[in-house]
Amino acid sequence: MAGIPHDHYEPKSGFEKWLHRRLPVVSLIYDTIMIPTPKNLNWMWIWGVVLVFCLVLQIVTGIVLAMHYTPHVDMAFASVEHIMRNVNGGHMLRYIHQNGAMFFFAAVYLHIFRGLYYGSYKAPREVTWIIGMLIYVLMMATAFMGYVLPWGQMSFWGATVITGLFGAIPGIGGDLQTWLLGGPAVDNPTLTRFFSLHYLLPFVILALVIVHVWAFHTTGNGNPTGVEVRRASRAEAQKDTLPFWPYFVIKDLFALAVVLVVFFAVVGFMPNFMGHPDNYIEANPLVTPAHIVPEWYFLPFYAILRAFTADVWAVQLVQFVTFGIVDAKFFGVLAMFGSMLVLALVPWLDTSSVRSGRYRPMFRWWFWLFIVNFVVLTWVGSRPAEGIYSSIALIGSAYWFAYFLIILPLLGVLEKPLPPPATIEEDFRDHYGPDAHGKGGAAATPAE
Ligand code: HEM
Repeated sequence: MAGIPHDHYEPKSGFEKWLHRRLPVVSLIYDTIMIPTPKNLNWMWIWGVVLVFCLVLQIVTGIVLAMHYTPHVDMAFASVEHIMRNVNGGHMLRYIHQNGAMFFFAAVYLHIFRGLYYGSYKAPREVTWIIGMLIYVLMMATAFMGYVLPWGQMSFWGATVITGLFGAIPGIGGDLQTWLLGGPAVDNPTLTRFFSLHYLLPFVILALVIVHVWAFHTTGNGNPTGVEVRRASRAEAQKDTLPFWPYFVIKDLFALAVVLVVFFAVVGFMPNFMGHPDNYIEANPLVTPAHIVPEWYFLPFYAILRAFTADVWAVQLVQFVTFGIVDAKFFGVLAMFGSMLVLALVPWLDTSSVRSGRYRPMFRWWFWLFIVNFVVLTWVGSRPAEGIYSSIALIGSAYWFAYFLIILPLLGVLEKPLPPPATIEEDFRDHYGPDAHGKGGAAATPAE
């Protein structure tokens, strides 16, 4: 795919020319921040920058926390209390890191939903999407291992339940679980390896984020219309785009400031609102908490995991045809991982020729139902797996799979989309009025 034609960096002074011949780093930075960006991006395009901020915040606060934390079962809980009471700013540092993880997930879900609504995953942006999914899975692994580190009751029992899932795999499950834990049960070897990996994975995520940004800089950003930037000439491209600096930097910084007001209000006034009180009780292998509940950002998948009990006919059928190899527990594990897999495969499951949900009248209904279903699954995942809750979780899980495997493929055939605008420039003018200039480059006049 040809890039969007635009001005490139030209070294001017003698030193710039000297450096450019040896290491074209200035040109790399210039081309990255001056990248032509569709000028009709709306507020749902802010989450990427919020996510970069969250990642950096988690790495910086995490490194300082690690200076005071002790990864040993006899000392971990006390070392976290020590951070909270004795370390200068430790109280704030821990709450920023803990709530930062939650904001990170809130932002990633909004970023993913933006992608699902506007069809950002469609060709040619499939690789950006797949790298995003890898980042998301690593984020979940990192958050899960981080939650074990304070060595509270939820840390211990959460680790026991989740690593137990691997034990459900027929044949190799038991050995796999022992290998993951470093022994027969969650204990010191588990804590030390989780600490080591929790420190490492954010840097792997950082590397993947660089590849993610590289991928969408290669294809160019999508935009709310799903119509591509014209690339035939620089003059045409300039009518559809504005340089990232300063236009989108300012917009993103403004959005980030608003998000940070909310973030610091939570950190300052209600830092434990989303946490579980049981995690302020030190881990005790002899006392099981009444309800083992993961952090909210895992709950939709936790609901899917628990939805498939032995009374569900589909589970019984699969158990029968596989001669009992796939029992209810393993079925639940497959469903949970399968629900992430179908999300990753959405670029190939969505058959519509129109990208953006804006021009897809039928799709919109199913999409918003998907969002409602996501919220319901989050809620039901926090309830005990019994009675009416199990039925709701089952319906919600069925809808999750139906959305990706039946509804999206069928809509591409059944739906009659509305005509999208011919160009981004046209959409921009429709939105901001005929007087909006936005010619791109230095001559651009931002719309009122
Ligand atoms: C640490 C996590 C992530 C970071 C830092 C990140 C960063 C970014 C940034 C800066 C952008 C461009 C502007 C924007 O949309 O805000 C972007 C675009 C995109 N991201 Fe992510 N992202 C992350 C995770 C994900 C995940 C989990 C997915 C989905 C599975 C995803 C899918 C996409 C797609 C498809 C685009 C292209 C959108 C477009 O050009 O219209 N990203 N990302």
